[in-house]
Amino acid sequence: MTTNNLPIIKGIGYAIPSRIVTNDDLTKIYDTSDEWIYTRTGIKERRFFASDEEAFDLLQKAANQAIKNAGIDKEELDLIVAATSMPVQFMPSSSCMVQKMLGIKKNVPAFDISVACSGFVYGLDIAKAYIKSGMAKNILLVTIDNCSRYVDWADRRTSILFGDGIGSAVISAGDTSDILVVDIKADGEVGDYITMPSLKGNCPFVDQTPTRQICTMKGQDVYKFVANIIPPYITDDILAKNNIYAEDIDYLVLHQANQRIIKAVQERLGYDDSKVISNIEKLGNTSASSILIAIGEGIKDGKIKTPSKAIICGFGAGMCWGGGVINLRDGIFKQENIFQK
Ligand code: UT7
Repeated sequence: MTTNNLPIIKGIGYAIPSRIVTNDDLTKIYDTSDEWIYTRTGIKERRFFASDEEAFDLLQKAANQAIKNAGIDKEELDLIVAATSMPVQFMPSSSCMVQKMLGIKKNVPAFDISVACSGFVYGLDIAKAYIKSGMAKNILLVTIDNCSRYVDWADRRTSILFGDGIGSAVISAGDTSDILVVDIKADGEVGDYITMPSLKGNCPFVDQTPTRQICTMKGQDVYKFVANIIPPYITDDILAKNNIYAEDIDYLVLHQANQRIIKAVQERLGYDDSKVISNIEKLGNTSASSILIAIGEGIKDGKIKTPSKAIICGFGAGMCWGGGVINLRDGIFKQENIFQK
């Protein structure tokens, strides 16, 4: 069968871990309150990979869910990409772990990308390029950040924001494109806003000062950067430049970083609440996975109807950001394939 090598988002999946940590739980370790956290962020609770829960088991389930929803066989995949900046492990890569756990026989290429909360959008851009060039026909993109194990638990500003979660998508070659617009950007000049240095004190021949591998964030700087850049980026670079009118789009699915940021973009677009997908209250910021989880949950809960069109936008460490307009086709997330609670 011949196709025009256009990228179709055929199926998606997601997994959320079982350990619930509420704002009230956080008051046991910090001088904080549900009121402070909720008014500043919109978050009430978040999920962490539980002590007896293997993150890669959930990753396997989410990957299988996307493959099932896509209606392809795992052996038809010819590329696996994992977006992960707070990986469960550094080697083997998360993408190679998925390949192994799915039991894929062919030696299809598998690699990880590190673009933090922009992981899904960057992954879509890569998938589109591979498909348009004819280099791949079926790509599995997964997003997995082990936020709970890397956030700075000494900093009550940052740690309260994050939760763990996993997303998955199969992007295949077809005759029409579901990735109507995708754009990615970076500005390394402000890289110090969110950092996670590697361990330094390990080599016996050089500096032995022990370091921690912890993600730190200058919350206010990030907030200002995002609040200045993202709303006009969406209206000007993603919509106007591509001759797309905001009113022709059904949903806004922004990276779930802060409800106040979501609200600012919503107001700029003039959208009512029914068009804005937000699950930050229950899951916090799940980094690279937040957009995919929000889409999956939105369809499961009936808030997103398909077929429809969504504006997506991710932003975070790097600083990296990226946005787009995608089709959410019928069957992208089938009710019979749901395994989430
Ligand atoms: O996913 C990547 C993208 N990430 C983001 O987009 C996150 C962007 N940043 C933010 O969302 C916000 O900056 C935060 C939610 C992280 C923080 O909100 P903020 O309004 O910027 O708070 P702040 O850091 O300016 O702190 C205000 C006050 C401080 O007290 P003083 O110095 O004014 O007396 C903090 O010590 O609130 C205090 N504070 C807290 N109080 C209770 C900071 N954290 C807490 C806390 N509970 N957890």
